Amino acid sequence: SMTKVAVLVGSLRKDSFNRKIAKALVALTPGLEFDFLDIGAVSFYNQDLDTNPPADWVAFRKHIANADAVLFVTAEYNRSVPGVLKNAIDVASRPYGQGALNGKPAAVVSTSIGAVGGFGSNHHLRQSLAFLNMPVMAQPEAYIGSAASLFDEAGNLTNQGTKDFLTAFGKAFQQHIALHTKKAA
Ligand code: FNR
Repeated sequence: SMTKVAVLVGSLRKDSFNRKIAKALVALTPGLEFDFLDIGAVSFYNQDLDTNPPADWVAFRKHIANADAVLFVTAEYNRSVPGVLKNAIDVASRPYGQGALNGKPAAVVSTSIGAVGGFGSNHHLRQSLAFLNMPVMAQPEAYIGSAASLFDEAGNLTNQGTKDFLTAFGKAFQQHIALHTKKAA
């Protein structure tokens, strides 16, 4: 069966540029099966609930556990990771020692309307993923800046350079996943 990738978009905004970039990347990467998870439905992490976790945590952790890899496509808020995405990661990381993210190959894309392309968010996110033992693709990096200029009025990605870049990024991610996926002996 096809390699399954869970997609976590670090923005809840209806017209999110990050979601549009994620959708474009999916369309340009036919070799992988992508599943967008709704991180807005993941309730706030609270350690008091560890012994009796809410149903939304259980469902979210299961979706992550069933994926072969994780793709993060995130906005930058105040030079860091939006709280809603950090919350989803915190929920998925528990119970300690049994976190669903452990060892899953990953890639990070950051998208911003600014010129810096979400560098701060991208690298703060990598700090958490390193701790979670996730092999994160190092190259190519993806800092998509000036996002408002890349789409037509219908929200389609029209910038050819970005399309070419995302095509190469998707191919590299597929290879990265294959390299880091342990096959049964
Ligand atoms: C922003 N934005 C922003 N942009 C940036 O390049 N660096 C930053 O640190 C921030 N900080 C920030 C904080 C908050 C609270 C908001 C709401 C916005 C602007 C951000 O890039 C822009 O809103 C994008 O459109 C967000 O991504 P989505 O929602 O389009 O995917």
